[in-house]
Amino acid sequence: MVVTPWEVRGEIDYTRLIKEFGVEPLTEELLQRMKKMVGELHFMLRRKIFFSHRDFDKVLEDREKGEKIYLYTGRGPSGHTHIGHIVPWIFTRYLQKVFNATLYFQITDDEKFLVKRNLSVKQALYYTYENSLDLIALGFKPENTRIISDIKAIHLLYELAISVAKRVTFSTAKAVFGFEDESNIGIIFFPAIQAAPAFLGSKIEGRNLRCLIPCAIDQDPYWRVTRDVAPKLGYYKPAGIFSKFIPGLGVKGKMSASEPETCIFTVDKPEEAEKKIMNAFTGGQPTIEEQRRLGGKPEVCPIYLYYYFIFEEDDEKVFERERQCKNGELLCGECKRELAEKVSKFLVEHQKKREKAKDLVDKYMLTDLELG
Ligand code: TYM
Repeated sequence: MVVTPWEVRGEIDYTRLIKEFGVEPLTEELLQRMKKMVGELHFMLRRKIFFSHRDFDKVLEDREKGEKIYLYTGRGPSGHTHIGHIVPWIFTRYLQKVFNATLYFQITDDEKFLVKRNLSVKQALYYTYENSLDLIALGFKPENTRIISDIKAIHLLYELAISVAKRVTFSTAKAVFGFEDESNIGIIFFPAIQAAPAFLGSKIEGRNLRCLIPCAIDQDPYWRVTRDVAPKLGYYKPAGIFSKFIPGLGVKGKMSASEPETCIFTVDKPEEAEKKIMNAFTGGQPTIEEQRRLGGKPEVCPIYLYYYFIFEEDDEKVFERERQCKNGELLCGECKRELAEKVSKFLVEHQKKREKAKDLVDKYMLTDLELG
């Protein structure tokens, strides 16, 4: 199992990750506390898709006292957005609503330029724009969603970034990120840039506010460094809430843009996405007869997991599907067809909203004026 911000591979053992990364499991007690405050829990919490955290209890404590918090998440624009990337964004939209919080959304076009051998600055910036359309299409509003493109707007972060960088030694960075003598010096500095937005809300507000970072667990190494430095800068340690990975449509592994045939992009033509789904690996048996007799394995089936992670919010329906699969009542072809229909419908709607977003991107960009 390898889980770093730049590579996720192998069979992922989330219990082991909790221990190795030193994060906390999201307990039933915390969930009940959240429920008491906000009413309904998001299905990604009920299903423990978001399964671990750092200081989420402190976020709840602040909100219980009526204190403001802010959210921070982001995207590394090395290509088009896929369904995996929007898992944390959908959840962030919910957090934004229930916590009435501003979201800072960092687009690390610099990071992707630095780590991807064949990506030019121009291409990275093209995807910054394209990925912003996806965020906007998901319904985030400019009043409380501020996007920062590192390449275009680094001056908004630079003071914070160098303040972080001064307090992180190369030896720490090496230990956390595995840098080597061959690593370029840009990427060695970069963790300070990804740390910066975690303090931005406090800087803008002129007082300490808690920052909550919703993302998949692969980004946690950044937060370890950021949290170490926070008290030295006089800020709260940023809190985090971390999700599992939605798998690709192949045999194993997280959805990854490097295997486009196993990956559903938000810009895929609906027919194209349907085809990928119909060709996907499943947890089913090799023959209909065996499927009827032995039932399938939804826990290893990407098709089932797509319903579970995103496309079926209704718990009763998703667990009924699981039951029918295990019983052999449901065949893979039918299950795939229904998912293909749902995904295709989502893509048609999302792509319409993306078109509308094209006139709006500028409204979301954080500006100097807001920094005071
Ligand atoms: P990036 O572009 O690799 O990923 C964007 C977000 O998607 C999550 N993610 C996934 N979630 C579920 N299933 C998957 N298969 C999957 N693949 C990726 C990532 O955890 C991330 O939340 N360096 C970052 C950009 C960034 C950022 C941040 C992300 C800057 N600041 C703050 C989160 C929070 C990156 O390259 O993300």
